[in-house]
Amino acid sequence: MGTCGFRRATTGEGQRRPLARRLHLRRRTRLLRLESAQGPRRMVKMRFFRRLFVERVALDLGTVTTLIYSSRRGLVLHEPSAVAVNRFTGEVIAIGRRASEMLGREPYDVEVHRPLRHGTIADLDLAQRMLRRFLEPICRNRFRRIHLMATIPGSATDAERNALIEAAREAGAHRVDLIEEGLAAAFGADAIAPDGSARMIVDIGGGTTTFSIASRHGLIVSETLPIAGNDMTEAIREDLQKRYDLVIGERTAEWIKIEIGSALPEGNGRTVKVYGKSVLGGGTEGVLLQSHEVAQALEPVLRAIRDGIRRVLEQAPPDAAHDVCQSGIVLSGGGSLLHGLDQWLSDQLQLVIVRAEHPVEAVVLGAARLLENPELYRQLRVVERMSYWSELYEEALHALEV
Ligand SMILES: Nc1ncnc2c1ncn2[C@@H]1O[C@H](COP(=O)(O)OP(=O)(O)OP(=O)(O)O)[C@@H](O)[C@H]1O
Ligand SMILES: [Mg+2]
Repeated sequence: MGTCGFRRATTGEGQRRPLARRLHLRRRTRLLRLESAQGPRRMVKMRFFRRLFVERVALDLGTVTTLIYSSRRGLVLHEPSAVAVNRFTGEVIAIGRRASEMLGREPYDVEVHRPLRHGTIADLDLAQRMLRRFLEPICRNRFRRIHLMATIPGSATDAERNALIEAAREAGAHRVDLIEEGLAAAFGADAIAPDGSARMIVDIGGGTTTFSIASRHGLIVSETLPIAGNDMTEAIREDLQKRYDLVIGERTAEWIKIEIGSALPEGNGRTVKVYGKSVLGGGTEGVLLQSHEVAQALEPVLRAIRDGIRRVLEQAPPDAAHDVCQSGIVLSGGGSLLHGLDQWLSDQLQLVIVRAEHPVEAVVLGAARLLENPELYRQLRVVERMSYWSELYEEALHALEV
């Protein structure tokens, strides 16, 4: 039994359990270890039972999108993080895609909320309800234990980490481990070099941009900036109001960003007709908007992201900075899908910039990969909390070296 097992014998608050209980745990694990000496066949059986009774689930609870990956079924959920509530009774009307569809066109008695802000839980009650609904199909089997690996921004406070653990537990997870978003993105985007050299990954989500320099031994430098895709959307809204006295909704601004948004000053050469409400008369008006105008509006947000990369490179040790400059930077997250962003950053920083193969799924795929590799996770983990029964169970498995 490694020391690792007994280090876990702590309460949720990090205090050691009473001596009697620790001795009880030790006695049980010793017995189990003796049994495990009976041969590899028993270990194979235990592995079989573990597979049968434990479902490993990776969770990327994002400001805009939630993704869930199950060890048994692959990617099982990719839905907007949104909850529609009756504004008079507080009753939840819709969650996920259906709630998001109402955004900006809500019936008069409905309010659509996003329970997360800048990557962390802002409304615990709604986040719990949303997560319970998302995890429902996985938690349906009462005989199966759920081991959940949730990702969290590196800048999250203890209270925000605890809120995520509480929400996941309440939603049905038996064991919750947390891993930093940047590290998960690096693993999910295959940006970890096997030779131990450092790589940089920039995850541009909806509410946060995470800059991480990591190697296969862990995070070297990381910074989370509360500026990302949603700020690009907001910049387009503000620009239309300033330039054309036109008020548009969040959904329309996002549509403009996806259709004609570009990081390149010349844009993508496309034009769209946008309808909104006139600030002056209040009537509906339409304007022809060109891609290069949108590019101008997006520039301050893009500059903040570029400066974040420079700052993190400055903080990195010289050898790590050398590795990054040689290998380049990988982009992930929905915000990295902006037209021309890789090229613009490359021109600005004189570095090779590439987009991950699956930018939106990178974080959840990385968390899933760490779930499959407990040794690696033990080396890299940030926080771990378990219930007494989970501890006992883990102790037993560890003793059997399963
Ligand atoms: N084609 C696209 N072009 C530009 N932006 C896009 C595109 N597709 C999605 N986005 C933006 O990506 C953002 C959502 O990305 P993502 O799903 O990675 O965020 P998240 O993980 O929920 O947020 P966070 O990581 O900050 O908590 C939104 O702002 C969305 O508008
Ligand atoms: Mg994200």
